[in-house]
Amino acid sequence: MEKNEKQKVKEAVITMLKLMQLIRLYDKGHVVIMNSLDIFYGLICEVLQAKECIMIGVVGNEMVYEKEPFYEITNQMSEMIKRLKVIGVEKIMISRGVKKDELLEFCRLLGVGLKSSEKKKDFEKVIEKAELAHISVGKIYVQDADQAAVELSDNELSRMADMSYQDGVDFFTRIYNAKDDPDSINAALAYKLVGKIMGILSRNKNLLVFLTSTKVKDRCTFVHDLNVSILTLLQAEALNMDRHLLNDIGTAALLHDIGKILIPEDILNKNGKLTEKETSIVRRHPVDGAKLLLDTPGTSILSALVSFEHHMLYDRSGYPNRLKGRKVNMISMMVTIADVYDAMRSNRPYRQAKTPEMVYDEMMSLSGGYFHPDLLVNFFKIIGLYPAGTWVELNTGEIAMVSKANMIDIRRPEVNLLYNNKGVKYDTPRTFNLLDKDEDGKYKFEIVKSVPFKPAV
Ligand SMILES: [Fe+2]
Ligand SMILES: [Fe+2]
Repeated sequence: MEKNEKQKVKEAVITMLKLMQLIRLYDKGHVVIMNSLDIFYGLICEVLQAKECIMIGVVGNEMVYEKEPFYEITNQMSEMIKRLKVIGVEKIMISRGVKKDELLEFCRLLGVGLKSSEKKKDFEKVIEKAELAHISVGKIYVQDADQAAVELSDNELSRMADMSYQDGVDFFTRIYNAKDDPDSINAALAYKLVGKIMGILSRNKNLLVFLTSTKVKDRCTFVHDLNVSILTLLQAEALNMDRHLLNDIGTAALLHDIGKILIPEDILNKNGKLTEKETSIVRRHPVDGAKLLLDTPGTSILSALVSFEHHMLYDRSGYPNRLKGRKVNMISMMVTIADVYDAMRSNRPYRQAKTPEMVYDEMMSLSGGYFHPDLLVNFFKIIGLYPAGTWVELNTGEIAMVSKANMIDIRRPEVNLLYNNKGVKYDTPRTFNLLDKDEDGKYKFEIVKSVPFKPAV
C-alpha cells in the first residue's frame, strides 16, 4: 500500500469524526459542516481513484485500514471507536461512486441518528433503510473465524445462511424489477452479500456445499447466481488466494449473469428449445453484462471481465468468440466450472437435474477442453464426487447422507447413516468416514450410487 494512501484514509477518518461532532452542533447546511464534508469527500474520492472500495475496520481499540492500525490517532478516535462498538459496527465499507450526500447522511446516522432505545444490532438495518448505495457497515467475518466457530451453533449458522440466500433473492429481485434503471445494480449491496457468504465460509464450508446442493431444487433463478458465487469462493479459498481478493472474486461470480436482465422474459423463461435467433439473443448476455458492470460505480473491473469471459471456455470454443488467441482469466475459468456444475445439478424446464456421478463423468470428460484441468481437479477435491447433502446407497443397502468431502479420495466422503436396508430410519444416526478400514485392511463401506430422495419411511 502506498504510504500516501494510508495517510489519506487516516485524514478521512479524522475528518469523519469531526463531521460527526459538527453535525451535532450546527444546522444541516451550515458552512462549517459543508467545508468539512468537502474535505472528507475529496479524500475519499482520491483514494477511490486507485481502488474500488475502502474498508475501515475496528479491531480491539484501534481503527484499522487494510490490516494496519492507526496507532497515532488512538486517543483521538476513542469516542468514535466506542460509538461503533456500542452499535455493533466492525467495519465500514465505502465504494467507488459514493456521493457527498451519502457521506453526510452516514455521518449523521452514525453520530446522532441512533436513538438510545435502539438495540446494538439495529444499526446495520438503519443504514440499509437509508439506502446509501455506496456505504455499508457490518462485521469483520474472515479474521475471527476460529473464535466465531465457537460462538455460533450449527442452527444459528444455518439460519444465517438461509437469510443470506433470502438477501440474495431480494438483491436480484430488485435489479430485475428495475431493469431500465442503470442504478439498480447496487455494488455495495453485492459486496455486502458476498461478505456474509464469506462469513459462513470461514465458519463452516460444508454447510455451504450442503446448501448449494439442496437449494438447486428451488425454482428461483437467483439461487443459481448465489450458488455460483459460493462455488467460486470455495475454489478461490482452497487455492489460498489472497483474502482481500475474495470479496472481489465472490462479487464477480455473483454478477456473472447480470447481462441476462436484458433478455426478454419470454425467451428467458421459455420451456422448449430456443430458436437460432433466440439463442443469439441469449448469447449476448456476457457482452451486455460487461457493459452494464463497467457503467456500475463501485464494481471491480474483474466483474466486467468475468461476465465477458464466463462462456468462453478454456479452449476458447465458447462465446463471445472474438479476440481469438487471447487467454481466459483464471477467475473466469473458475466461474465457468461453478456455472456449468450448478446448471447440470439443477432442474430446468426442459430437463431433470443430472446425478452427481453423471455430472462428474461429463465434466471430467471435458477437462482440458471446456475446463482448465487443474482447476477442475481442485473443484472436485473440495466438493467431492458426492457433495454434502447428497443421499447415497451403501453396499450394505443402508441409506446415508453425505456430510463432508474427503480431499484424499473424492469417492469416500464422511456420511451420516440414517436408514437401514429396509428403509427404516435409525433412532440414532451414526457418522462414518468412508476412508475407515476394518482389521483386514478393507474399507468398511462402499458407495453404490447416489439416490435422488430420502426413503419414505
Ligand atoms: Fe451465463
Ligand atoms: Fe450462469
